[in-house]
Amino acid sequence: MSFPIVRHRRLRQNAGIRSMVRETVLHAEDLVQPIFVTYGSGIKNEISSMPGVYHFSLDTLKEEVDEIAGLGIPAVLLFGIPETKDSVGTSGFAEDGIVQEATRLIKAWYPDLLVIADTCLCEFTDHGHCGMVHTFERDGHTCGDVLNDESLELLVRTAVSQAKAGADIIAPSNMMDGFVQAIRAGLDDAGFYNVPIMSYSVKYASAFYGPFREAADSAPQFGDRKTYQMDPANVREALREAETDVLEGADMLMVKPAMAYLDVVRLLRDQFDLPIVAYNVSGEYSMIKAAAQQGWISEQAIVMELLTGMKRAGADIIITYFSKDAARWMRSL
Ligand code: PBG
Repeated sequence: MSFPIVRHRRLRQNAGIRSMVRETVLHAEDLVQPIFVTYGSGIKNEISSMPGVYHFSLDTLKEEVDEIAGLGIPAVLLFGIPETKDSVGTSGFAEDGIVQEATRLIKAWYPDLLVIADTCLCEFTDHGHCGMVHTFERDGHTCGDVLNDESLELLVRTAVSQAKAGADIIAPSNMMDGFVQAIRAGLDDAGFYNVPIMSYSVKYASAFYGPFREAADSAPQFGDRKTYQMDPANVREALREAETDVLEGADMLMVKPAMAYLDVVRLLRDQFDLPIVAYNVSGEYSMIKAAAQQGWISEQAIVMELLTGMKRAGADIIITYFSKDAARWMRSL
């Protein structure tokens, strides 16, 4: 009688052995929780396509931040819904802008909780694009070009105002060419040479951002983002994007979305020595929530498997709307 020469099951036979040989362990310290802040008072409104994620006004924000800090999550990523929008996104770089105000509050409450500021204009522009737009009419439709270098000036102002308000990390998500270089120079000139840039280096033009655009009221009013965000079919181009950001002085490299792009996370992990960030985006969150609400999947098990998969693929940091849930589950495991 012949037996297997190698027995893999020996190291799987009980929880103790499995834990001893486990290669990837997710920690609360790996996670970043996004927060949506808005004007008004007494607001804690659930985003309909993202159950469990809310808009907070500044007077209801503390409760949320208490919970995040209490769970040992080291960082939050702020998105703002402004009172007014215009063609250049003025409220994005106003000293009393909603992100700037929220940053000041959070840093006063929790000096050690890291505030990451998303540096983009789409939440603040009336046309919903991530930069300044030159509009024109064609065949009766409004069209527009997103102007690269003109937009950089506005983005630099946004980043500097966020750093002035106390943001610990600047995370530019606008996908203009040269944004890391321009923002690095702007931060340095303003004395913020120690504020790191977490670059959305490889950001795909993805349908998975749908629920976020409802949450942030940032859908483009005409056209799409395909002239600045990347084609989901491309991966060599991802290397070029990341290389450029490294040369321009980025401190961390992000891949976004995460689930359909883990090959890109792995590629960047293997090619670069900078910390790699995976952004588990809104549509990925909503799909899981919807299936869980139907009772079709086990939410906790699926989320932990996905986040572990992102870490296994090479992410050092994971931005996810599940951060609070995951941190809570890790405590009770
Ligand atoms: C801003 C920005 C977006 C997201 C993060 N920053 C939207 C977009 O590019 O359209 C998406 C985040 C998510 O879907 O969770 N440009």
